Amino acid sequence: MNSSAASAGFQKNLTSYGDAAFSQFLRSAFIKGAGFSDDALTRPVVGIVDTGSGYNPCHGNSAELIAAVSRGVMLAGALPVPFPTISLHESFAHPTSMYLRNLMALDTEEMIRAQPMDAVVLIGGCDKTVPAQLMGAASAGVPAIQLVTGSMLTGSHDGVRVGACTDCRRFWGRFRAGEIDATEIARVNDQLVASVGTCSVMGTASTMACIAEALGMALPGSASPPAVTADRLRIAEKTGATAVAMIAAQLTPEKILTPHAIENALRVLLAIGGSTNGIIHLTAIAGRAGIAIDFEAFDAMSRETPVLVDLKPSGRHYMEDFHRAGGLIAVLRELHPLLHLDALTVTGRTLGAELDAAGPGFPQDVVRTRTNPIYAEGGLAFLRGNLAPGGAFIKQSAATPALLEHEGRAVVFENATDLASRIDDPALDVTANDVLVLKSIGPRGAPGMPEAGYLPIPRKLAAQGVKDMVRISDGRMSGTATGTIVLHVTPESALGGPLAAARFGDRIRLSVARRTIELLVPAAEIARRLAALASPAPTAARGYAKLFHDHVTQADLGCDFDFLRATEMKAKAPARRL
Ligand code: FES
Repeated sequence: MNSSAASAGFQKNLTSYGDAAFSQFLRSAFIKGAGFSDDALTRPVVGIVDTGSGYNPCHGNSAELIAAVSRGVMLAGALPVPFPTISLHESFAHPTSMYLRNLMALDTEEMIRAQPMDAVVLIGGCDKTVPAQLMGAASAGVPAIQLVTGSMLTGSHDGVRVGACTDCRRFWGRFRAGEIDATEIARVNDQLVASVGTCSVMGTASTMACIAEALGMALPGSASPPAVTADRLRIAEKTGATAVAMIAAQLTPEKILTPHAIENALRVLLAIGGSTNGIIHLTAIAGRAGIAIDFEAFDAMSRETPVLVDLKPSGRHYMEDFHRAGGLIAVLRELHPLLHLDALTVTGRTLGAELDAAGPGFPQDVVRTRTNPIYAEGGLAFLRGNLAPGGAFIKQSAATPALLEHEGRAVVFENATDLASRIDDPALDVTANDVLVLKSIGPRGAPGMPEAGYLPIPRKLAAQGVKDMVRISDGRMSGTATGTIVLHVTPESALGGPLAAARFGDRIRLSVARRTIELLVPAAEIARRLAALASPAPTAARGYAKLFHDHVTQADLGCDFDFLRATEMKAKAPARRL
């Protein structure tokens, strides 16, 4: 046994006993106790993050993926070592998975740092897991490669194809409106999630899978294979082998997460009609790499980047169809002139080289051309105005075109409890032309910025056939949702942002063409109302709640903890071309 404090494989990151040779001796004894031979102990080590959990059906194929990754690692001559971290599922995390994303990022970062590994495979999938893993890996600085679990299959309800969760919301809206009964909604419920894997539309999980690939942090072609396919397993095996190659090349995240890579990912976010959550997560990931997102420049990019992917909620198809149409490579091929082709990927080759190797593509109707897009501009638009001095976002590709320019009377809910108690009250004074406002669902206010920004249409209006209204909040919405919904209003109302000044009966004007969101109340009156507010942000006494409360940043900094962002922003992305 080598008694020096070596820095590779199982000799890395020794436990501190004050005697490095003893530390190695002890570690070796324990590994042998687990059945490893001396040969295994001399190999490079690839850690594999196991986020399988009984609480996470989106990661229900984790065991198969770990086996395939391990096979790839061993075929390449290294030793695979799976280890657990926190796992987060959208439907099993109270109060919201976003509240726990930074905890998972911390867990991921610290376990990569603490344990001996020369590279790490990050297996994630459900909405918050991939951003958490990329954030943690970016800070840990060990060669890292993302592997997503893949999308679920679609189901069928009375001959109509359905999938989570755009159709969940569509059918729930019909149920609320009295169009379908309890028996039918129960039958729909049986079909919405037809297998393990992540949501089958371009929601946040699919968006983050595409972003991981566009960043160069996942293998080309790895975003789209569904969870239960052979393609997914082969990608897993190749991911394992690639992780081994990354060790020799010392391909650390800082070499991949460059401003050009971030800009490519922002471009892809727009072109796929990706989730609004994507911009928050990408801001957080970039922040770990010392890159600040320039939202004005991002918005300028949006005006020149059409939505190409015809997937729900912006379009018609599902992730299975996207995969059969060529997956993200088909999008990147179409975006070719707009991308930074010099950006490095986990393969050690540039994005341009990978696209050249992928060949010319084939006729299909899921990924459109730039001359025949499904939406002329990018999916997201960045708004400013006296209601959101720090900005807000709207997913314009999933909105009602007629509502993108709208002025209406504000119907204001002070918080989620107020909303729940009054939204379906037959006596609620509300019309279809009003603007629904929900306060106190921001990063600190809720806490955790829940996906409550998708305010339900008041039941009495839904029953009249109203499908959409302008809705505004400091919260988020699911990437699977549709509607004319202004989100991420910054600063949040719980910190005294101008949203806190909105009152029933005020006029609010939204102009997506001018990128503005305005409270039509004189500035002096807004200031007077804010000064009169006696509602300090809620406090937390202990534990993670206190850590979150004291350190979570606003949406414009990705809701990361202030002490986890890079200490210095070295660059901005995208580069300004205003
Ligand atoms: Fe996991 Fe939708 S709930 S991806």
